[in-house]
Amino acid sequence: MAEQTTTINNAPANVEVDTSYENDSSYGDELSSYSASLTSSVLDYRHENGRRYHKFRDGSYLLPNDETENDRLDIFHELCLTLLHRKLYLAPIKNPQRVIDLGTGTGIWAIDFADQHPEAEVIGCDLSPVQPTMVPPNVKFLVDDIESEWAYESDPFDFIHARFLTISIRDFGKLIKQCYRSVKPGGWVEFQEWDGYPMSPDGSLNGTALQQYYDEVWGAFEEAGYEVSPGPKLEQWFKEAGFVNIHVEKFLLPYGVWPKDPHLKKVGAWNQTQAEANGFEATALAPLTRFKKWTKEEVIVLASKARADGRNRNIHMMFDFYVVYGQRPEN
Ligand SMILES: C[S@@+](CC[C@H](N)C(=O)[O-])C[C@H]1O[C@@H](n2cnc3c(N)ncnc32)[C@H](O)[C@@H]1O
Repeated sequence: MAEQTTTINNAPANVEVDTSYENDSSYGDELSSYSASLTSSVLDYRHENGRRYHKFRDGSYLLPNDETENDRLDIFHELCLTLLHRKLYLAPIKNPQRVIDLGTGTGIWAIDFADQHPEAEVIGCDLSPVQPTMVPPNVKFLVDDIESEWAYESDPFDFIHARFLTISIRDFGKLIKQCYRSVKPGGWVEFQEWDGYPMSPDGSLNGTALQQYYDEVWGAFEEAGYEVSPGPKLEQWFKEAGFVNIHVEKFLLPYGVWPKDPHLKKVGAWNQTQAEANGFEATALAPLTRFKKWTKEEVIVLASKARADGRNRNIHMMFDFYVVYGQRPEN
């Protein structure tokens, strides 16, 4: 296998705008599944600005864990499946027996993976115990902090998966080294992450409230020490950790239905749908109120303006999204 390949996977270099929308208004419990005991220290959630946040390692993750947010994460899952043509992962894994999903969120990826691989034991790990309880028998969920030291080196995995830990993690390099030490020789690690900075092929994003939103919110995350753009750096972190057979696949991820290409249009529709599920507020509230001393009302105004710009068919915003996987050498 080649050492690395980088491709833009789903689109021509120039993304064409679909102008046919000019006049179209449609644009628009079982507790035993947890190995950690669900003590009040885990379940006594923080409530702030009308949203609910995790309690275990209070304050270390800045997005809510309430039903609204969990619905958004499930929509994001559909966005990823659409983007990757219904594939849950791209690494060439074979007959995995032991698998972990880092920062599993609602556990939807882990549940789908367990359904597809009944032979595998699948662990979903998160700060928040928000996963469903009616799950396949080969999945279990753990409450744990993946930025702390791991205890898996003596019982390593065949496959370690992480998706959308952008704005969650401070030190991706350290995390990817932990993955290396906790995957079997010959096993695979895959990360699916954003380049959080949006762009527009025609400059239509410049000077908009959407641009202001990302400048303000990503600025606050970065000042607080979080990585907002891990996607383009994953390859280097995988190399530094010692992985081989590293593959980098870059996907264009538009926002909204402005692209003419039907696949990109569908992806863009899902992206807008997840952001409109209160995503702008959910992402901005804690960093701007906790670290930049904005009021809740100020954040809501910025988020509303960003959402309105997102509905403007003349603003052609898109992101890069990276899927990177690598193998621990056999020897
Ligand atoms: C944006 S969500 C993505 C969820 C899921 N991976 C997906 O793709 O749908 C990020 C998740 O990572 C979890 N998380 C953030 N920091 C974490 C940490 N240090 N340890 C464990 N989980 C963490 C959050 O609780 C949240 O559920």
